[in-house]
Amino acid sequence: MKQRENFSSKLGIIVATAGSALGLGNIYRFPCEAGANGGGAFLIVYLAIALVIGTPLMISEFVIGRRAKSNPVGAFRLLSGKKSAWPVVGYLGVLCAFLILAFYTTVAGWTLGYLGKSIAGHFNHQDLTQIQGQFDSFTNHPWLPLACQLVFLALTAFVVARGVKDGIERWSKILMPLLLVIMVVLCVKSLTLSGAAEGLRFFFKPDFSKINGRVLISALGQSFFSLSIGMGALITYGSYISKKDNMVSSAVSVVLADTMVAVLAGVIIFPAAFSFGIQPEAGASLAFTTLPMVFQQMTGGYFFCIIFFLLLVIATLTSTISLLEVIVATLTEELQLTRSKASIVGAVGTAAIGVLATLSFRTGSPLHIAGNTFFDLLDHVTALYFMPLGGLLIVLFVGWKMERADTMDELTNGGSLKAGLRKAIMFIIRYLAPVAIGVIFISQLLA
Ligand code: PFF
Repeated sequence: MKQRENFSSKLGIIVATAGSALGLGNIYRFPCEAGANGGGAFLIVYLAIALVIGTPLMISEFVIGRRAKSNPVGAFRLLSGKKSAWPVVGYLGVLCAFLILAFYTTVAGWTLGYLGKSIAGHFNHQDLTQIQGQFDSFTNHPWLPLACQLVFLALTAFVVARGVKDGIERWSKILMPLLLVIMVVLCVKSLTLSGAAEGLRFFFKPDFSKINGRVLISALGQSFFSLSIGMGALITYGSYISKKDNMVSSAVSVVLADTMVAVLAGVIIFPAAFSFGIQPEAGASLAFTTLPMVFQQMTGGYFFCIIFFLLLVIATLTSTISLLEVIVATLTEELQLTRSKASIVGAVGTAAIGVLATLSFRTGSPLHIAGNTFFDLLDHVTALYFMPLGGLLIVLFVGWKMERADTMDELTNGGSLKAGLRKAIMFIIRYLAPVAIGVIFISQLLA
């Protein structure tokens, strides 16, 4: 049998998983959700969920992946025995990856378009109305956003076709720390704008009366989306982790890094938005109008803007790679397609749905369902239903269905790591996480 590839080092898993986690979820979706759900109240709930539920769920996915060394469908089949219904969770995950990739590449395309616009100097000497106008004319352009989306998908397929080590790991390792550096620079600039304090207050001062079922489920969905959990991406990456790696400490590092970048994005965007008079509830356009405005105010802003969008394209690419990898690992192992064929099939399938998400942004587009764009619909269905449900089933599987000895064997690397902390993690996986996810999920269904 062909030997499966592994990530080459401990840094390999952290970098690849962080590459999957860090992306538009942090810089584009997190500020959008925080802005629409009351700022500080959302942040508190988000932090609690990411740390207390997100970390054990990430560990659970690693446990399943490394134990089975298989794609999500194969993993549930292998670990649950014949005639079990558990592989359905794997299928749901693959479907979810496909739906996320479809709308994610819409915004991924925008990052590419904005990279081009920043090189062409479109944001120089523009006022807010002009920058907002640019967002509208870009998303309404007859072919540009579609072309950008398709180029992005093609790039993703190209990297995935080359395989885990050559593609995913190498790409993930390049340039991520630089993104962090540039975000810190942006943060300093944003905090010195006049009126910044009001934005900080909005983002950090929780108004507890704003916490309701909607805020809870949005924070749950956002944390799962941002950490790439609840749909099998990290089962797939877990299957490439070597037996010697410490999955618990790796998961903790990734959750902390991901959370830090999301908070940093908030500290950049809200002070600037308040300073320029952009509504925090602006939605899709929030990051794409606020950031170019900040760059305008900076010395050397033209270059910073180019570097920022270049790094954002790369951060986004390492996330789309992990989404396509779920589909490709499943197609190659379940249907015996070659990696190249599977990458093409996955990308073409995604493009078919993805272009509809992009087109739905046009003014007057018929692709609206019950007042929402088709894009929003894909986003809501995945973050508010698929991922919470997937996450719930994953912790239940690891906590109650898998052999306890196998799980502990994975958590302790065959007994060579201390068991104490891991028993506490098991407790969260068995009791706390399923109850918390279940309660939040049901409360929104009843709301
Ligand atoms: N976590 C990515 C982000 O925050 O941009 C999005 C994502 C990637 C979600 C991979 C799910 C996934 F499997």
